[in-house]
Amino acid sequence: MKSVFITGGTTGIGAELAKHYAERGWKVGVCGRDKLKYTESFPTQKDSIQFYQVDVANRDQVKAAIRDFSSPIGLDLLIANAGIGYKFKTKIPDFEFSYKMVHTNLLGTMYAFEAALDVMIPRSKGQLVAVASIAGYNGLPGVSAYSATKSAVQKYCESLHLDLRQFNINVTTINPGFVDTPLTQANHHPMPFLMDAPKAAKLIGRAIEKKKMTYHFPFFFAGMVRLMGILPRTWYRFLFSMKLLNYSKEK
Ligand SMILES: NC(=O)c1ccc[n+]([C@@H]2O[C@H](COP(=O)([O-])OP(=O)(O)OC[C@H]3O[C@@H](n4cnc5c(N)ncnc54)[C@H](OP(=O)(O)O)[C@@H]3O)[C@@H](O)[C@H]2O)c1
Repeated sequence: MKSVFITGGTTGIGAELAKHYAERGWKVGVCGRDKLKYTESFPTQKDSIQFYQVDVANRDQVKAAIRDFSSPIGLDLLIANAGIGYKFKTKIPDFEFSYKMVHTNLLGTMYAFEAALDVMIPRSKGQLVAVASIAGYNGLPGVSAYSATKSAVQKYCESLHLDLRQFNINVTTINPGFVDTPLTQANHHPMPFLMDAPKAAKLIGRAIEKKKMTYHFPFFFAGMVRLMGILPRTWYRFLFSMKLLNYSKEK
């Protein structure tokens, strides 16, 4: 039996991924801070999806949960998915929340990878996946720390992809566009090409199976965003001087 541990697997993309793997007969573990979200998302699947109450910003908690879940059959796949984003996009960032974002989105990914590698390296097999974002391709207005953490996760995974191949461990970065989840339901701006979470999980599952180094979607929107990433920065600045794109608020 194959096994997967998904951080932030109690709502949205993570929960859909948990269902995706449970339906295929995998042993599935998820973690989150709030057990109620787990109970609500999996009313009939509690036997097939194991829950750990963990804050990914706490290295010891992450380590203990992944060690417990992986015993004794090991760990085939780790998906570092837990993440938070700004509810309100403001020109002056909410610094307190920004620091929390670094602890959750970036350090949370590193702690999960570290704990998974403790299990995978001795067995010389496994796959690490991080859910970053297309927001990591550019510094977007109003989401400074979100873009920064996702960009850091992209680069972190790119390096590890090269380093861990010799241990037979594959690393995949997933960069979604807008997906309809509790995270984006709090947004107050247009979300082009919004996709539903089950469809996103299906696409992500397929990319993981193919052991892609990096996967971004939806195809057209992600392509446009990546193109913006290679524009001369004066053009980029001009684009975002347009009100339509620059939706961050003064306060
Ligand atoms: N939705 C999108 O459009 C979109 C686009 C690009 C990238 N992403 C990324 O996709 C990932 C999943 O997002 P989502 O949209 O599915 O959001 P979501 O529905 O809000 O789910 C977030 C999950 O992460 C958990 N979580 C948050 N902080 C945590 C912490 N400190 N420790 C443990 N678990 C924590 C949440 O549970 P608790 O709150 O109970 O802890 C929940 O299970 C995130 O990394 C997000 O940045 C999303």
